[in-house]
Amino acid sequence: MLALTDDLLIGKGTERECYRHPTATNQCIKIRWNKQRKANESVREYLYFKYFCKSRLLDIPIAKPLNWVETNRGKGLIYELITDYDQQISRSLKYMLENDLITRDLAAEKLVQLREQLIHHNIAVTDVTKQNVACQFITPTEFRLVLIDGYGFSNFLPVALFSQRLSRKQIERRVNRCFKYL
Ligand SMILES: Nc1ncnc2c1ncn2[C@@H]1O[C@H](COP(=O)(O)OP(=O)(O)O)[C@@H](O)[C@H]1O
Ligand SMILES: [Mg+2]
Repeated sequence: MLALTDDLLIGKGTERECYRHPTATNQCIKIRWNKQRKANESVREYLYFKYFCKSRLLDIPIAKPLNWVETNRGKGLIYELITDYDQQISRSLKYMLENDLITRDLAAEKLVQLREQLIHHNIAVTDVTKQNVACQFITPTEFRLVLIDGYGFSNFLPVALFSQRLSRKQIERRVNRCFKYL
């Protein structure tokens, strides 16, 4: 069983806590703390990625789920940790904007690119927000956006399984919501 401690905590979302993996530097572990909502986000992301994400072997702009693990803080799901060129953990788009580290215009431009990539790979998304997108710096001045949370199917009967066109529209609509909060 893996031992997680407070100093490994990276961030806490509305549903899960995200910890650095104690030994694997390129991984993180998410533990569900808020069990009020019926849907378990980790289960949804894991199943979507494993069974429906056709591009899972490619370099796609999402933090990939890897495996389940038992920890002292409950069952967790291991993900790729999104890090910058200098090994620092990538900051969220929210953090970068609130601290004036990037401009709204640049954020919007990158969000357009992310939207096109998600559409291109037909990656179903549920919740694209500033908190759920990381700015991954590839060099000190260049970054790309990576979705760290909020992909998969939100409905029992996902449109993506029936129609490429509807799926495209849905991805577009859901990413577009994010623009007005930049
Ligand atoms: N793969 C990742 N790489 C780097 N940081 C991450 C990663 N996943 C989550 N985080 C950090 O942890 C926070 C909470 O994780 P998140 O998956 O968004 O939880 P929730 O499902 O509760 O919203 C994020 O806002 C982000 O700061
Ligand atoms: Mg989140």
